[in-house]
Amino acid sequence: MEKKLRVGIIGCGGIAHAHMRSYLRIPEVEVVGGADIIPGKARAFFDEFEMPDAKDFLSASELLKLDLDAVSVCTYNTQHMVCAVEALEAGCHVLLEKPMCLSMKEAAAIYFAEKASGKIVSVGFQPRYGRNFRQVKEIISSGVLGDIYYVQTGGGRSRGIPGSTFIEKDKAGVGALADIGCYSLDFAMNSIGYPRPLTVSASATDYFGTNPKYYSEAHRFSVDDFSAAFVRLEGGITLDFRMSWAMHMDTCGDFLFLGKDAGLKVRQPNYHPWGGAWDGTVGQMWLYQDMFGKPTHTEIPIETDQKSDLFYCKVKAFVDAVLTGGKAPIPTSEILYNQAIIDGIIRSVECGHEVETDLAFLDK
Ligand SMILES: NC(=O)c1ccc[n+]([C@@H]2O[C@H](COP(=O)([O-])OP(=O)(O)OC[C@H]3O[C@@H](n4cnc5c(N)ncnc54)[C@H](O)[C@@H]3O)[C@@H](O)[C@H]2O)c1
Repeated sequence: MEKKLRVGIIGCGGIAHAHMRSYLRIPEVEVVGGADIIPGKARAFFDEFEMPDAKDFLSASELLKLDLDAVSVCTYNTQHMVCAVEALEAGCHVLLEKPMCLSMKEAAAIYFAEKASGKIVSVGFQPRYGRNFRQVKEIISSGVLGDIYYVQTGGGRSRGIPGSTFIEKDKAGVGALADIGCYSLDFAMNSIGYPRPLTVSASATDYFGTNPKYYSEAHRFSVDDFSAAFVRLEGGITLDFRMSWAMHMDTCGDFLFLGKDAGLKVRQPNYHPWGGAWDGTVGQMWLYQDMFGKPTHTEIPIETDQKSDLFYCKVKAFVDAVLTGGKAPIPTSEILYNQAIIDGIIRSVECGHEVETDLAFLDK
């Protein structure tokens, strides 16, 4: 076999394990090292995988001296941009965990560093590989709905606030929005082919996370646990976004795609406290349209074995693109639009009114 792809992992916490498990299944890859700012964490990570030869470091900069081909950036959100840009500048391809980053300024920095480097950045939205997610896109791309004018995102957890670094503003930046909201935005935007977001009006709350009655780590909680937004997209499309980690309700609703000729309703699998994250599974879906002059609806069969190996699919697709010189499977050119919405939500929540998205740098 030719020389293996030399891969490093930046941030050796929870999700780095899923990256590592996937890389271990790909014979063309050798994970040669990792970095974590917590002393001993990268070493303990490689010890867990019985990899004594893998090198451990306390910073991405030291790791990047290893002459790597690619890295996974698995840090918490506030460190995504700085690590991704540093890796690109060191000549590495980047598999970047979701959300891509937290602001449009950061997104632009990643986008331009990627362009300058000639390497690829793929963003970690593994639900894209779900067969039913793909079918939703296929149904919409077929044109059966006609022009789409409204999309409602759905789901949301009733009691599903995570712990760890997800609830601290200096590490996560934002809460439910960045954790699971970004999946539902990606599902919506990817399904309808990425129309450009124009304006955002949003609100966010933290009533559950900050209340010890509902959350044992309330003293640490400094992000949102619910947010809602009204987003205008180009082409006269309204995107109605809502996502929650906790609420007095089982779900924020179904995903709805309303077109001039037909509508598509997509329901999450089961209502349970930790459900509703749009993680690649779909419970049911229906197509609504007029037949013989009468409104009708048809249930569309769901593929089973839905969640099988989505994470591996995402890592494998990234590795294949690197090996073949192909395009990023989940490119920044698409995810920038998700980020424009996330950035708009954050700014609109701060200022209390509608804001314009900040994608002008793409036109220069
Ligand atoms: N795709 C998925 O299914 C999925 C699931 C969970 C988390 N995530 C994403 O993965 C990221 C990490 O989540 P996690 O649960 O692993 O968090 P975590 O806190 O368990 O791990 C993050 C690690 O990064 C380290 N770190 C932070 N800054 C660093 C830096 N500059 N250099 C090196 N190491 C650094 C931290 O010390 C920590 O060990 C988040 O962005 C999250 O949104 C994705």
